[in-house]
Amino acid sequence: MRILVTGGAGYIGSHACQRLLRDGHHVVAIDNLHRGHITPMNLLAAEYPDQFAFIESDLGETPTVLETINKHNLDTVMHFGALAYVGESVDDPLWYYRNNIVSGIGLLDACDAAHDGKGISRFIFSSSCATYGDPPEGMIPVPEHCPQSPTSPYGSTKLHFEHILKEYATQRQREDNPIALTMLRYFNVAGSDRTGVLGEDHAPETHLIPVALNTALGKRESMSIFGTDYPTPDGTNIRDYVHVEDLIDAHVRAMDRIEIGQVEAFNVGIGKGYSVREILDSVRRVSGVDFPVHESERRAGDAIALYNDPTRIKSALGWDAKITDIDEVVGSAWSWFQKHPNGYGDK
Ligand SMILES: NC(=O)c1ccc[n+]([C@@H]2O[C@H](COP(=O)([O-])OP(=O)(O)OC[C@H]3O[C@@H](n4cnc5c(N)ncnc54)[C@H](O)[C@@H]3O)[C@@H](O)[C@H]2O)c1
Repeated sequence: MRILVTGGAGYIGSHACQRLLRDGHHVVAIDNLHRGHITPMNLLAAEYPDQFAFIESDLGETPTVLETINKHNLDTVMHFGALAYVGESVDDPLWYYRNNIVSGIGLLDACDAAHDGKGISRFIFSSSCATYGDPPEGMIPVPEHCPQSPTSPYGSTKLHFEHILKEYATQRQREDNPIALTMLRYFNVAGSDRTGVLGEDHAPETHLIPVALNTALGKRESMSIFGTDYPTPDGTNIRDYVHVEDLIDAHVRAMDRIEIGQVEAFNVGIGKGYSVREILDSVRRVSGVDFPVHESERRAGDAIALYNDPTRIKSALGWDAKITDIDEVVGSAWSWFQKHPNGYGDK
């Protein structure tokens, strides 16, 4: 297939490009490089010169996106490009709405106008378990029919964009020009490409595993646990950590199996939760380093416990996480961090 990967220079988007290229697809990545990195784009371009192109642009630049889709005859969009920090979204919600919704609509305008108005055929959206907020009692593990009630502006942008996409898919159906739409609600994504080429390099970094690995590497003096008085067995938040390669496999399955005219939403998570303390223990085991951890106040917008009920994605897409051992997830990230102590080093 011929695929546009938005946010392709970011952590998950670059891993998606790599997997799609390895599978023999033609891929064009688009990214404004605000958070993404040019290095993985250059690495992939060197390895796949006939299959891959990178375009530096904001998704809100509809004419550029449209020209890209038409020029490369792209029929499928995987939309990873977004701002993705809960805390940052609490501090500046309008920025998050402008980027994730307004620029997202700019992308959709291009998707709609492409191919002489026929539009693209398949759209796969990176949604989030943050759309569920704090699930009500009896809804953990979280099924797809759990009420969506985000506790942060970030989660709200993801939920609004799901609504926008569903309305757009309905319009395409009405016009007798249907689209295949899949919304994948990721739980926490972690780990790195196990061939060691790509990794996770966020600046600023707020994700638990990379922060802990940076502390184990000595790049930070210490780190904090935000909230130790949650109603969980050890008082810290519980999350579901899905390996990035398994996550991308869910996208590939959605691309292959969701038919034109179908609109689907699936959770992507392994179905098991780990507390913050359990993750820190895993980082200590994998790295062999003990490091100082401070106990701090809860952070605004953080849900107490979130882990997935994978029943639906298993039956509909035949997807199951292959990497479920947390030390293996952490270990794949640790080996990239050790080899790249300064990340990609291109910023
Ligand atoms: N990392 C996770 O655990 C997680 C969990 C749930 C959902 N998600 C979603 O997955 C997607 C990818 O996350 P990530 O961790 O790879 O983040 P990332 O920041 O590494 O990647 C996002 C990329 O999108 C680009 N981008 C953002 N806004 C853009 C715009 N307007 N125009 C062009 N490029 C733009 C950034 O420069 C960056 O390269 C996001 O949509 C995020 O909300 C991530």
